[in-house]
Amino acid sequence: MAVRAIYPGSFDPLTNGHLDLIERSLRLFDELVVAVVTNPAKTSLFTDTERVEMIRESTRHLREIEILVFDGLLVELTARLGARAIIRGLRAVSDFEYEFQMALMNRKLREEVETVFLMPHEAYSYISSRLIKEVAAHGGSVKGLVPAGVEQRLRTKLHRG
Ligand code: PNS
Repeated sequence: MAVRAIYPGSFDPLTNGHLDLIERSLRLFDELVVAVVTNPAKTSLFTDTERVEMIRESTRHLREIEILVFDGLLVELTARLGARAIIRGLRAVSDFEYEFQMALMNRKLREEVETVFLMPHEAYSYISSRLIKEVAAHGGSVKGLVPAGVEQRLRTKLHRG
């Protein structure tokens, strides 16, 4: 039976760290669903559609993955899609507490689903979508930290392009 995993996140925008994790996940799982969370309480720079497009454009060279938008409970999505694992990235110890809480809450809500933590390549360990947006907003270069298409969209979005 094919083992399916879900990689959830805000992806606002996708970074090379996220992409690295997608590639690692594809080596471990038969099927991968990238789930873009839509959170009305959180202001995002990119729309849901743009975030999905950026992931699609940046993963064209990889084995097929499913990309969707969701706004409910992650464990409900995993149940609906028959996913066995939730993928999350751990960059540094500072990520651990939040991730640990989420993993245990998700386990409490749905015991069958396992959270699998993957470490991105160390070259990406300091990258976050938040920092990428901050640097790009002030005109700094994010080349090599995000896919080329994302870099272009950041320029356009922030009126620098
Ligand atoms: O990239 P992010 O913003 O760190 O991802 C956080 C995400 C989307 C994984 C988390 O907020 C989430 O799972 N949201 C869906 C709602 C939910 O299930 N919340 C309970 C988590 S224990």
